[in-house]
Amino acid sequence: MVARAQVRAFYDEFFESRMVQYRLFGNRRIELAARRIEPYVQPGHRVLDVGCGIGIVTERIAGRARGGRVWGIDLGGRNVWYASHTVRKSNVSFFTADILTDAGHIRERTGGAFNVITLVDVIEHIPEAERPGLFVRLKGLSAPNALLILTYPSPQYQRSLQRNRPQELQIIDNVVELPTLLAEAGAAGFSLRHYSLEDVWMRNQYVHCVLQTNDALAEPARPEPTLSREIGERVQRATRKAFVLPWRRWRFVTRILKEEQREKSPHAVDS
Ligand SMILES: C[S@@+](CC[C@H](N)C(=O)[O-])C[C@H]1O[C@@H](n2cnc3c(N)ncnc32)[C@H](O)[C@@H]1O
Repeated sequence: MVARAQVRAFYDEFFESRMVQYRLFGNRRIELAARRIEPYVQPGHRVLDVGCGIGIVTERIAGRARGGRVWGIDLGGRNVWYASHTVRKSNVSFFTADILTDAGHIRERTGGAFNVITLVDVIEHIPEAERPGLFVRLKGLSAPNALLILTYPSPQYQRSLQRNRPQELQIIDNVVELPTLLAEAGAAGFSLRHYSLEDVWMRNQYVHCVLQTNDALAEPARPEPTLSREIGERVQRATRKAFVLPWRRWRFVTRILKEEQREKSPHAVDS
């Protein structure tokens, strides 16, 4: 088993050797992850970005969660320090925390009840034996109808790295199989909303997986009513009643029933 101090030291070094490069040159994996997450984040949302690294995705999320708040947490102190000095948005905070041991501290600092929790390239770095407990903790930090968004290397990519380029693997770097993930997340109260294999630099290289808490059926959240939206909706309802419904009734009911009658008794005369 790898000690937490070793993992922390690894990511403090990884910060300089790899992560800062993402700020200089951009990174397609991160860009695609941000694009996957953004549509799920609404104004006013509370979001937790677990293993935020240097905060690139956290910053993108904050742009969406206007009027809400986003927290980026990471094991690596240097990542958190760098993120707090480079991401300048009033609705973001970063702090050092281990998601496996510090859930209580995270709840104290943030109030918990997150609408969206993201793990961008993090789940594969969690020790396998700790994953079921991780999902339980994440569920405990979730608001009702929350989403949990995971992006991670696909099993086929991880296996190919293990075979051909093991030196590129990080200190803990597991193959995450979908059935195992669904069983672990399901036991904690999450179910699958979206799963896709994504082409990043190679075909089928990454997984985008969106889980949701198993809450009762609920009406989708509606935007705040405004006068112009109200007028627009009334015009739409009136047009539908006056034109669309009569036309559909003629096209799909009256005409077809008449046709049916004609076919049944071809010699009858229309009244
Ligand atoms: C591969 S990096 C991904 C960083 C960032 N999300 C990105 O996509 O660029 C994995 C990150 O997860 C963090 N991490 C690993 N285990 C963690 C844990 N138990 N709690 C919090 N962060 C953790 C590491 O410190 C590291 O910054």
